[in-house]
Order: sequence, then C-alpha cells, then structure tokens
Amino acid sequence: MPATRMVPAYIVRTSTIHGRGVFARRKIRKGTTIIEYRGERTTWKVASRRPDSDPDNPYHTFIFELDDGESVIDAGVRGNAARWINHSCNPNCATFEDDEGRVFIEARRKIRPGEELTYDYRLSVEGRMTKKARAALECRCGARKCRGSMLLEP
Ligand SMILES: C[S@@+](CC[C@H](N)C(=O)[O-])C[C@H]1O[C@@H](n2cnc3c(N)ncnc32)[C@H](O)[C@@H]1O
Ligand SMILES: [Zn+2]
Repeated sequence: MPATRMVPAYIVRTSTIHGRGVFARRKIRKGTTIIEYRGERTTWKVASRRPDSDPDNPYHTFIFELDDGESVIDAGVRGNAARWINHSCNPNCATFEDDEGRVFIEARRKIRPGEELTYDYRLSVEGRMTKKARAALECRCGARKCRGSMLLEP
C-alpha cells in the first residue's frame, strides 16, 4: 500500500509584494498553526555581523527577533519555507513564541486557497533613522490601510 503523504498547507512562489512569498494551497482555518520559523538560534550581535542575506539590499533580512530582545532566529542558516513569508500591514497570519523560544506562524483569520500568507514584521531600528533606511523599509503590501513601512512606528 502506498504511504500516505501529508500535503503541506502552503507553497513558495513569486510574490507581487516582494521576491518570493508563501501561499496557501488549501483553505486554512483561523487559529491553525501553519509553520515554524526555523533557522539557527543565535544573538543579534552574531547575526548582524554576518554577510547580507541579499547583497543588493543591506536591509533585506531573514532574522526574527525573539521576545528577550537579544536572541534571534537566523533563517539564513538552516531556514525553512517560513523565511519567505512577506510582511503586510493587514496580515492574515500572526507569529507567537512558545516557552522554549520557538516561533510559529498561525492563521489569524480564515485563509482561502491561493492567498499569500503574511504577518506584520513590526520592525524597529536602533539609533538614528536615515533617509536611505526609511526608503529601504518602505512597504509594498498593497493593503488599503498600508502604513507605508515595515517599521512598527514609521
Ligand atoms: C523574510 S524575507 C521575505 C522573503 C522575500 N520576499 C524574499 O524573496 O527574500 C524579508 C524581506 O522581504 C522584503 N519584504 C517583505 N515584505 C515586504 C513588503 N511588504 N514590502 C517590501 N518588501 C518586503 C524585505 O526586503 C524584507 O527584508
Ligand atoms: Zn503595508
């Protein structure tokens, strides 16, 4: 008898928001945990010294900051499909961190097949914000109430 294979709820393909994105392959119910954000667990200090994840854009990032403000998951190292999930100001997903500091992406509403999965990056930048940085962090999510930036406080 052939082995039963679980069809993943998502697929990675080109996005109109930016580069690659992650899309629902089937209906996903509100509250479903879709995928873990995997990668190397390290600190901001170590991850920020690494070569840029996109040589053409120093503001491109695969780094997910954990609640302690010091630790990160660097999906540029051993990352999975979650590293392709784009930001939206009106996202259909949210992230949560469990007691062990593992991060998961869950549906915050019902998601239809073909919809791009997104969460709000809520980025912040330490120190003075330059014009260049602001421009590089401009948001292209296309939401009606897009705040124009991936920063939490533009
Ligand atoms: C974790 S990656 C997401 C995958 C990305 N689309 C790619 O192909 O590499 C995060 C990067 O994608 C880009 N990005 C994600 N959401 C965006 C948005 N709403 N507007 C503009 N750029 C976005 C930014 O360069 C960000 O640093
Ligand atoms: Zn936006």
